Amino acid sequence: MNKTIIVSNRLPLQISIEQDQLNVTPSVGGLATGMKSVHADGNGLWVGWTGITDEELDADLKKEVDAKVKDVKCKAVGLTQDDIDQFYLGFSNRTLWPLFHYFLEYTEFEDSQWEAYKRVNQKFAEVVLDTIEDGDTVWIHDYQLLLLPQLIKDVKPEVTIGFFLHIPFPSYEIFRTFPWREELLTGMLGADLIGFHTYDYERHFLSSVKRILRLDVNFNEITYHDRIVKVDSFPMGIDYNKFHDAALEHDNPNTEISELQKRIDTHLNEDGDKKLILSIDRLDYTKGIPNRIRAFEYFLNKHPEYKEKVRLVMLAVPSRSGVPQYQLLKKETDELVGRINGEFSTVSWTPIWYFYRSLPFENLIDLYTSSDIALITPVRDGMNLVAKEYVATRTKQDGVLILSEMAGAAKEMNEALLINPNSFEDFASALKKALTMPLEEQNNRMKILQKRLKRYDVEKWADEFFKTLEATNKLQDVVVSK
Ligand code: ADP
Ligand code: G6P
Repeated sequence: MNKTIIVSNRLPLQISIEQDQLNVTPSVGGLATGMKSVHADGNGLWVGWTGITDEELDADLKKEVDAKVKDVKCKAVGLTQDDIDQFYLGFSNRTLWPLFHYFLEYTEFEDSQWEAYKRVNQKFAEVVLDTIEDGDTVWIHDYQLLLLPQLIKDVKPEVTIGFFLHIPFPSYEIFRTFPWREELLTGMLGADLIGFHTYDYERHFLSSVKRILRLDVNFNEITYHDRIVKVDSFPMGIDYNKFHDAALEHDNPNTEISELQKRIDTHLNEDGDKKLILSIDRLDYTKGIPNRIRAFEYFLNKHPEYKEKVRLVMLAVPSRSGVPQYQLLKKETDELVGRINGEFSTVSWTPIWYFYRSLPFENLIDLYTSSDIALITPVRDGMNLVAKEYVATRTKQDGVLILSEMAGAAKEMNEALLINPNSFEDFASALKKALTMPLEEQNNRMKILQKRLKRYDVEKWADEFFKTLEATNKLQDVVVSK
C-alpha cells in the first residue's frame, strides 16, 4: 500500500534523557500540533529529529529511541551536536526564521552555518530516500528543510513531492538580501506543489521566483526545466472537534477539576466581575510579548477603573533557548512582568500571572475555557493556531478574540477584534471594547468564526493539499506527453 512520508525537522514527540531514562513529551508549535492529527489518521511515516543528539545515545539507548519512535509511525534522523548548533540553532533560527519574519536586525549570514544547513538537508534526504517505495508521496514541511525537495527530486524524479511553509514568505525586497537566494528557491522548486498559509506569502514567493530566477510564471504555475510546479495557498486549520469536545468534557460536572482550574476558580470567585485575559505563545520575539505587556500597562493607566478587575494570564512555552535573542527576550519578559506586578499589585490582586512552561493539553483547555478574552498579538506570524484553538473551545459562544493583523490567521478571522500590535491605542481600545461587548455581539461573532473553523479544519486542509498535489501530478503527465 502506498504511503505518505511526512518530513519535518521536529517529530511530534520530543525525547530527552533524564537520569539515564528516556523522557518523551509532545512537541509544541503549530506544525507538530496540527500535523499530528493528519498523521494519526493516515497511512504514513513521519521522518524527523527526536530532540536528542547522536552523542547522547549509546547503542542501547539508540535502539530504545528507534523503537519508541517506530511505535508512533515515525523514523528518526540522527543529528550531531554540531548539526544542532550550526543547522538548528544556527542557520534555521538565526538566519531563516528572523529573515522570513522581517527581523533583519537579528539575521546573521554565516557561510559555515549555510554549509551545515546543506549538510543536514542532505542527511534528511538520505533517510527519506531510504524509506521511499514506488508510489509513495513525500510531504515536506517548513523552513528548516527548504533544500530537501530538490535533493529528493534529483535522485527520484518520479516521486510526488509536496512542500508546505508554516511561516511567512517575505516580500522580494527582504528575500533579495539573502546571499543564497537562488539555491534556496531552486531547492523548493524540487516540489510539485508548494503551499503557503496565505495568498500574500504565495505572491511574495512567486515574485521572488520571477525576479531572481527569471522563470516563466503563468498565474500560479511555474515552468521549471520540464516540469510544472504549482504554488497555492492553504490556510492551515486545527483539529476543531478535538478542542471543542475537550471543552465540552471540561464543562461536564463529572469531570475531575484540575489544580490549575481550582486556582483560576478561586481568583474568579473572589470577586464576581473579574475578567481573565489570556495569551499563549512560544516565547519568541515574533509573538510581540514585551509589547503586549507594555500595552497592558498602558491600558491599566488609561482605564484605572479596571485595576483589580482584570488579570492577564500569560503562558509562554520555552523555545530555542540556545539562541541569544531568545535569552534576551526571556530576560526582558521576566523584568517587565516583575516591574508591572510590582507597580500595580495590591494585597488581593496581581495584574499578570506568568507561566513559563509547557502545559498538558487538559490545562490548555482549562485556560481557553476560563478566559473571557484571548489577546493574541504577534508582530509577525505565519498563521497562529492558538487564536483558532481559543475559538474552538468557546462552547457557549461567548468570549472575545483580539488578534493581530500581522498573523496569517487574521485573514480568515475578520469577526475577531483585529489590531495593529504596534499601537498601544489599538490595544487599549480593543481591550475596552472586548470588556464591554454585549453577550449577543460576542455570540454573533463567535458563531461565524466557529462555523468557518469547523468547516475548514486541519483534515480538510490536508485533503485540499493532497487533492491539489494529485491534480498537479496529472499536469506533469500532460507536459511530459507534449
Ligand atoms: P507557533 O507554531 O509559532 O508556535 P501556533 O500558535 O501556530 O504558533 O502554534 C502553537 C501550538 O503550540 C498550539 O497548538 C498550542 O496549543 C501549543 N502551545 C502553545 N503554548 C503551549 C504551552 N505552554 N503548552 C502546551 N502547548 C502549547
Ligand atoms: C514553529 C515552526 C515549526 C517549529 C515550531 C517549534 O511552529 O513553524 O517548524 O517546529 O515553531 O519550534 P522548534 O524550534 O522548537 O521546533
